[in-house]
Amino acid sequence: MANNLLKGKRGIIFGALNDMSIAWKVAERCVEEGAQVALTNTPLALRMGTTQVLADKLNAVLIPADATKVEDLEQVFDQAMEAMGGKIDFLLHSIGMSPNVRKKRSYEDLDYHLLGQTLDISAISFHKVLQVAYKKDAFNDWGSVVALTYGAAQRTMYGYGDMAEAKAMLESIARSFGYIYGVKRNVRVNTVSQSPTLTTAGSGIKGFNSLMDFSERMSPLGNATADDCADYCITLFSDLTKKVTMQNLFHDGGYASMGMSMEAMDQYIKSFGEEEEEA
Ligand SMILES: NC(=O)c1ccc[n+]([C@@H]2O[C@H](COP(=O)([O-])OP(=O)(O)OC[C@H]3O[C@@H](n4cnc5c(N)ncnc54)[C@H](O)[C@@H]3O)[C@@H](O)[C@H]2O)c1
Repeated sequence: MANNLLKGKRGIIFGALNDMSIAWKVAERCVEEGAQVALTNTPLALRMGTTQVLADKLNAVLIPADATKVEDLEQVFDQAMEAMGGKIDFLLHSIGMSPNVRKKRSYEDLDYHLLGQTLDISAISFHKVLQVAYKKDAFNDWGSVVALTYGAAQRTMYGYGDMAEAKAMLESIARSFGYIYGVKRNVRVNTVSQSPTLTTAGSGIKGFNSLMDFSERMSPLGNATADDCADYCITLFSDLTKKVTMQNLFHDGGYASMGMSMEAMDQYIKSFGEEEEEA
């Protein structure tokens, strides 16, 4: 259901790897709502993934860039503005990767060199994106920036490893830059804290299927899907949310406000029953 909520707007979408990616769904919905988008991902991701298919479908320019490299980001803004014919109205940062998690280094055995990479890729890249945009004055007034985050920034989630630190930093950058960009250009900066979602990045988390099941049982509205997330991002990019900034917005079916649900409790009680039966 399209309502032309983004008619005439131009956006940059970071992080569409394949058709499971949240960024992929967001890019599709943005175009449905009347926007033009530019897509970007790392050269490796462009070789391994299927982003070109999306770019062809959406008639979007596709710009290779490692978001940890300022020179690459400068190219992203220059090329995106040139291809779309003007300044940017919205941007999605949908980037996350922990080499520690990938190499199965547990939280009490972190490799600190890899921790630096986790923070650079998953959090500091957001600062770099905003700083490059700011210096180039690349956003139109009342622009909107969203980065995707997860509730492990506030509450310990077993298995999420050093990504918890990265997400806490990411959310802090949204607040700090949100002030600066709000004053300069009325640009708003928010993070969306999304339910566990089955994607390439998501499935790297230890016990991911159980996490999704638990979270589904705990959330009164159930887990938010990638499509739901895309819908929510559309509202944040639209002119209907102009005064929302510096917020971490939970998009999780109510999970973040729950302590225990009947649905999760029932399952927990069953597990005791099974243990008793086994004994
Ligand atoms: N999947 C979930 O359960 C979930 C839940 C909450 C938040 N998120 C967040 O959503 C965002 C998108 O993840 P996803 O689940 O769609 O998975 P995904 O694997 O499809 O997307 C992650 C993207 O990050 C990109 N990336 C990695 N290193 C990069 C770099 N140096 N420069 C530029 N891009 C780089 C990857 O190429 C990939 O496209 C991430 O920030 C993730 O932490 C995911």
